[in-house]
Amino acid sequence: MELEYHNTPGNLYWKGSPRSVAFDATGIREKLARTELPCFVVQDFRGRIGISTEGELATDGKGLQLLAMASALPPSQLGDPDFRRDYNLKYAYKTGAMANGIASEELVIAIGKAGLLGSFGAAGLVPSRVLQAIEKIQAELPHQTYAFNLIHSPNEEALEAGAVKLYLEKGVHLVEASAFLALTEHIVHYRVAGLNEGTDGKVLINNKVIAKISRKEVAAHFMQPAPERFLKLLLEKGKITPLQAALAARVPMADDITVEADSGGHTDNRPLVALLPSIIQLRDELQEQHQFEHKIRVGAAGGISTPASALAAYMMGAAYVATGSVNQACVEAGTSEHVRKLLATVASTDVMMAPASDMFEMGVELQVLKRGTLFGLVRNCTSTISATGPLMRSRKKSG
Ligand SMILES: Cc1cc2nc3c(=O)[nH]c(=O)nc-3n(C[C@H](O)[C@H](O)[C@H](O)COP(=O)(O)O)c2cc1C
Repeated sequence: MELEYHNTPGNLYWKGSPRSVAFDATGIREKLARTELPCFVVQDFRGRIGISTEGELATDGKGLQLLAMASALPPSQLGDPDFRRDYNLKYAYKTGAMANGIASEELVIAIGKAGLLGSFGAAGLVPSRVLQAIEKIQAELPHQTYAFNLIHSPNEEALEAGAVKLYLEKGVHLVEASAFLALTEHIVHYRVAGLNEGTDGKVLINNKVIAKISRKEVAAHFMQPAPERFLKLLLEKGKITPLQAALAARVPMADDITVEADSGGHTDNRPLVALLPSIIQLRDELQEQHQFEHKIRVGAAGGISTPASALAAYMMGAAYVATGSVNQACVEAGTSEHVRKLLATVASTDVMMAPASDMFEMGVELQVLKRGTLFGLVRNCTSTISATGPLMRSRKKSG
């Protein structure tokens, strides 16, 4: 097929095989989906508008009129390249822990093998079950990165301490720290016990922390070095060395901060568009103050469930994105077919807040499914009866 040109030399044109231009709706849709290729929107001499993902720009007047173009944007280039490099990932994408092994070994392994970062849902599980998960995941992902959840347990401190002990003993080098209201001796222990000094004098961080937060004041704790009082305590108990205590002053408590907006599970119901920029700004202020060698990265979670919502978070400056609810419906999730089916039919509005069992006494709530289940309604009812006063709605919480 020969093309006719009626062009003005000097302007930008598109030159390439006419066969590569799609003018029909199906063809255009297919081309638009190939985000890993450049996209040229062209107009032919008959006035038809089409799309090609091939060809090149020309100025000699020989080509189709170029209306618009977009560079290639492969998903593997989204987010912070340091996040991908540090955790040896193909994509700056992590899946969040889901309690009681809902974020199962199978899920973490499948995610890890696909070049993403999975976090095992250790909360609510007994240590022997968590140990089983560690051994399975370590065997299946010898070269990939994985994380385990370290959840703050204000009412059962031994659980948090036990999890740290297990992670240190078994060489779990990355935790997703969540539900913290402030720092504790245990999370500081995990972080600082992994510090060492390299031959070049730089601090080596062997125990990485991705802290999930939904409040600025909690984020600030993780964006600064470990507090002196915990270092002193841990030194006295012989849990860290004097060198590690000294090195702790040079690094923040977390490598990454996941900003959790309105989400499934525990949530403060904040909108991502408001929360993410304010935490990025806080990070910049504290980085300016502390001049850490490695700037803390800020990722986004909460309501991310489609390519469009993931892209929106990256475009807002998220170093990485994290998902939760959508993963509960997948085949690898440690849940029932009934739950999977329910999740497959609901809309984002089919949810409600209900009291959280792990922080019930503090009046903390979490977001649960409303449609197709009486869980939320019954929980709200029983909590009003069993609470001594009206249910506090002080929703703790931070991630
Ligand atoms: C059923 C369920 C259980 C969860 N359990 C935990 C948990 O134990 N620890 C944790 O850090 N986050 C937990 N999360 C939060 C997720 O890791 C993730 O941050 C959140 O779901 C992201 O928001 P999204 O649900 O809107 O995608 C849970 C989420 C869900 C849906």
